[in-house]
Amino acid sequence: MHKEPIILAIESSCDDTSAAVLKGRKVLSNEIANQKVHALYGGVVPELASRAHQQNIIPVVDTAIKKANITKEDIDAIGFTKGPGLLGSLLVGSSFAKSFALGMGIPLITVNHMKAHILAHFIDDNKGTPSFPFLCLTVSGGHTQIVKVESTKEMQVIGTTIDDAAGEAFDKSAKIIQLPYPGGPLIDKYAKDGNKDAFIFGKPKVKDLDFSFSGLKTSILYSIQNNKKKNPNFVSENLEDLCASIQHSIVSILLEKIQNAINKTGITEIAIAGGVSANSYLRSELQRLANDKDYNLYMPKFEYCTDNAAMIAISAYFKYLNKEFASQNETASASLKF
Ligand code: KG4
Ligand code: ZN
Repeated sequence: MHKEPIILAIESSCDDTSAAVLKGRKVLSNEIANQKVHALYGGVVPELASRAHQQNIIPVVDTAIKKANITKEDIDAIGFTKGPGLLGSLLVGSSFAKSFALGMGIPLITVNHMKAHILAHFIDDNKGTPSFPFLCLTVSGGHTQIVKVESTKEMQVIGTTIDDAAGEAFDKSAKIIQLPYPGGPLIDKYAKDGNKDAFIFGKPKVKDLDFSFSGLKTSILYSIQNNKKKNPNFVSENLEDLCASIQHSIVSILLEKIQNAINKTGITEIAIAGGVSANSYLRSELQRLANDKDYNLYMPKFEYCTDNAAMIAISAYFKYLNKEFASQNETASASLKF
């Protein structure tokens, strides 16, 4: 019988060190070490991130292998994130993966982080997988894209942000209302008890399928500065309503653009990916839209929304099937093209 390959993968593009083991499309383990150190600085400090990756990588890989109940000799190939991301962080993962491949005599596979967020949908977790072609709204801390996905290899970005990413819009707005980094999940949490219509912020005017979030950030900043002049406790007294209104503004922009993309392409098979796809309001509003209009909607499990190595491993799995192996000359690429 055909043997399913066992693939180890490493993700280290930003501030999470992750290692996962997949057998075929099934996840045997998916370990993530978060780096708490950045909260002190209100954002990811690249130099601290790469040092923390160096400390974390061996224990994280070791735990992933143990939890998968395999030995390192069982591994058929190793995949790693080539980019895009922070160069110092990427270098830790890529150096580890190259050394591991060399030491074990197994193939090395490079993975594009943004494509991996999308391919997370093909992890076998007993949920349906989207059929091709589908549209994927990829929303993370560094990127905001609408991608037309034709196959596991052919993907075309049909809309992107002209300034900040959606995750940045969450995190920067959170900073304005004095929430710690990363503020996205906290806005989600406080918004649950707030009124989304309490405050109205400026709406961007960007054509077609592109996004803009920097005007919204400025609008939030000015509104809060004005209100604070009248009431110094404005933010703490209105925290839930502010979070709900900020979240509603960001999610409305995303929904409008995905609707435009559906109208333009005629594709009604819809998926979301990336850290912001963990947002509960985005998920419920998209579900409502899909139910209303009879679209097929695919949302990853929470653990596969934010950065994780299981999505790198599933991407490496597809390349493994095509024997798309990398050489030891491969290097990390901070601005790797889609
Ligand atoms: O994909 P990801 O883990 O890392 C990047 O590749 O950037 O995305 C991280 C982003 C952060 O901006 C974080 O605030 C945001 O995803 N995020 C959320 C939620 N969970 C994570 N934003 C809003 N609501 C959430 N529940
Ligand atoms: Zn990501």
